[in-house]
Amino acid sequence: MSERKLAAETALIHGGLERSQFGETAEALYLTSGFVYESAEQAEARFKGEDDGFIYSRYGNPTVGLFEQRMAELEGTETCFATASGMAAVYSALTCQLKAGDHVVASQVLFGSCLQVITSILPRFGVEFTLVDGADLAAWEAAIRPNTALFFCESPANPTLALVDIAGVARLAKQADACFVVDNAFASPAVQNAKNLGADVVVYSATKHIDGQGRCLGGAVLCSNDFFKEKLQPFVRHAGPAMSPFNAWVLAKSLETLDLRVDRMSSTTAKIATALEAMPFTEKVSYPGLSSHPQFSLAQSQMKSGGSLLTLRVKGGKAEAFKFLNNLQIIKISNNLGDSKTLATHPATTTHRTLTGEDREICGITDNLLRLSIGLEAPDDLIADIERAGTSKT
Ligand SMILES: Cc1ncc(COP(=O)(O)O)c(C=O)c1O
Repeated sequence: MSERKLAAETALIHGGLERSQFGETAEALYLTSGFVYESAEQAEARFKGEDDGFIYSRYGNPTVGLFEQRMAELEGTETCFATASGMAAVYSALTCQLKAGDHVVASQVLFGSCLQVITSILPRFGVEFTLVDGADLAAWEAAIRPNTALFFCESPANPTLALVDIAGVARLAKQADACFVVDNAFASPAVQNAKNLGADVVVYSATKHIDGQGRCLGGAVLCSNDFFKEKLQPFVRHAGPAMSPFNAWVLAKSLETLDLRVDRMSSTTAKIATALEAMPFTEKVSYPGLSSHPQFSLAQSQMKSGGSLLTLRVKGGKAEAFKFLNNLQIIKISNNLGDSKTLATHPATTTHRTLTGEDREICGITDNLLRLSIGLEAPDDLIADIERAGTSKT
């Protein structure tokens, strides 16, 4: 191969591929938990780190390694560790570096489980936290304490699609000497490069757009070699959040079509968001690709498109939101997202159910809020389904 750097699309199809003696076209699946050594000396050398090679699939596996290499190429980080789920990635990225007495600053609108980790699990181990309005850079700055060790955000945030100025927060994190971890799952790597915007560590739920076909759970932590060696590897080897080789194989193959799928999903979402703004049952649509989004100019500067998620506030409350969901025919009710199938959820009673009513109100997770994850169906079919559900009399 020439020395010329490959474009991301090409790297995602050929990157990391080492063919076995059979010369297979598609990537081989090494569904093995362990590895054998040629000698006791070789086993000893592997454990000492003096001999490259695999030890045990909790530490690393060739198929998982293929997925990790493609993810690192995609984000432009030095390395990647693949995890069993998105939450395993979030938890590992935080826990591997925090200790009792540290302080975390995080945006207040987060996926329910991310919020639980920061506000209820980590405090049990002596980690303090402050939640801030993610859109307000002054609030991030004001929250910094001498013991602030980590900044965390999602942008767009689940479920409200509020954005965080990632480059702005990265600058503050640097000044505070804190590690900035960005959960980029909602945007996907096809829409936003959090590493280039200044994140120190980027995490994904690969369950979402990266699989994109609702088949398996997965996650990824993307970081520098130093962070991996000093913080992440010593944690994950023993805590054991590793990805299954089977899931890694599915996800590595899915990366080959990530750009195509997310491009198409985003263009359909933009059409649906525009159509929804004119529908009679709509109180408000939030989509980073619409000029009505309060952070539209930030979206334009840090995202390649508006992405594949939008929120709809229907006129009325919970009853009207449920009526809308129950009248959908093509679109399915599900809390998953990033799938080829369009999925709708009611965050207040599902993904964000554990928040107190007051916290939901602060975050804008009202009873009439619905989150739509737009898939690969024909846009006109989806618009017709939405219009029928929203205008149904029963
Ligand atoms: C922003 C965000 N982060 C993390 C996760 C967790 O991912 P997983 O379900 O793969 O554990 C989700 C799941 O919806 C999410 O939306």
